[in-house]
Amino acid sequence: MPKPIYVLNGPNLNLLGVREPHIYGKTTLDDVRGLCEVRAAALGHAIDFRQTNSEGTLVDWIQQARTDAAAVVINPAGYGHTSVAVLDALKALTIPIVECHLSHLATREDFRRKTYVSLAATGLVSGFGAKSYELAIEAAADLISRAAS
Ligand code: DQA
Repeated sequence: MPKPIYVLNGPNLNLLGVREPHIYGKTTLDDVRGLCEVRAAALGHAIDFRQTNSEGTLVDWIQQARTDAAAVVINPAGYGHTSVAVLDALKALTIPIVECHLSHLATREDFRRKTYVSLAATGLVSGFGAKSYELAIEAAADLISRAAS
């Protein structure tokens, strides 16, 4: 059984669609899950899509990805800007990591312009709304196939 791409979502992303829709759009997290499933399936991959508001749970899932995932797509949300623990967990991975944000971080408040996650990620997709996730899945699939060849 091939390993899935983990798509991990941090705090407040459960409120997607109703939370600051002028910034994050009206697409719900369930809609995003559907988009990711379709895009991944078209590329021959399954996904394991999760969301948590808890930093420790996010760390646990990243640790689990060491053995159970082919790649990680992560939208760490606010923890991206604050969590050394999430960074340290990601640094323990040897699989591709794609950081994903709905909004365009480089154009937002100063504190959002850097994330700890970027220090561990292969690359970053930011600013395309829900489409950021589809692009991140494509990047992850590409990195998986490059690693296999
Ligand atoms: C976000 C950007 C973060 O700065 C913010 O804390 C979020 C969402 C995004 O997807 O644009 O919760 O990760």
